[in-house]
Amino acid sequence: MLIIHKAAELQKKPKSRKTSLGLVPTMGALHAGHLSLIERAVEENSSVVVSIYVNPTQFNRNEDLENYPKNLEEDLEMLKPFSKQLILYVPNHDDLYPEGIQSKHYDFGSLSQFMEGDARPGHFDGVATIVEALFQNINPDKAYFGEKDFQQLQIIKALNETLNLEIEIVSCPLLRSEDGLALSSRNRLMSDQLRSDSKIIYQTLNYIVEEASDWSVSQMEVYFKSKIAEKDNFKVDYFCVADPNDLIPITHLDSRKNYRIFVALYAGKTRLIDTIELARK
Ligand code: PAF
Repeated sequence: MLIIHKAAELQKKPKSRKTSLGLVPTMGALHAGHLSLIERAVEENSSVVVSIYVNPTQFNRNEDLENYPKNLEEDLEMLKPFSKQLILYVPNHDDLYPEGIQSKHYDFGSLSQFMEGDARPGHFDGVATIVEALFQNINPDKAYFGEKDFQQLQIIKALNETLNLEIEIVSCPLLRSEDGLALSSRNRLMSDQLRSDSKIIYQTLNYIVEEASDWSVSQMEVYFKSKIAEKDNFKVDYFCVADPNDLIPITHLDSRKNYRIFVALYAGKTRLIDTIELARK
């Protein structure tokens, strides 16, 4: 597999109808969710760049950045089946932050105001800064992001519109493990007990969507919090129901509309997020 540390090493070609360059940005600690993005990118493009870079500016707590799982050896092993099709971009800080490691400031309106935007101040400025740098450096035709980070995905779509680089943002479905936990690099930070108890998250969300979608938002929230409270060392950060387009949380459901539930919680020290569609039945 070709591994590069500077985007300048990529032989840049002007965009053309005959070739297509895909980009899958990651922070490493790869799992099956990342592999599904990579598989799709490989199917849909003539070449694919996978980036691995743990972006310091999107962590609002130093401890979180220090504990974020990093294992390039394991990542390389997981990428082996694709080694002929991929270019792996493992940039140095300088390649993405030539003027020093700091975020730019963006205004994404309501998209970045609530949920992760509210709980993790500065997080989306950090994400947008690095995604903008990756887009400018790689200039892909298509870029792949997972719907697990649904709010991030909407923000990247908005960023992409303003950058005008003619990149197609491809949204890929959230993948879950067999017991329902949304796949995330952070899952490996949990103890066996927390990992096993964490299946309560999807079980509860699924119950709300399948059996209780006519409850009020506050009934849903109370139920979610009470189920999570049954597990030791779990703590809900937020439970929100929001319009998937503007991401403004709502308190009253309009039966003609579809919504999404967004949750964040701590399993011990590990912060988990999940989201599920709350569709009209
Ligand atoms: O979703 C992620 O892994 C990161 O937020 C991203 C998009 C790679 C930016 O660092």
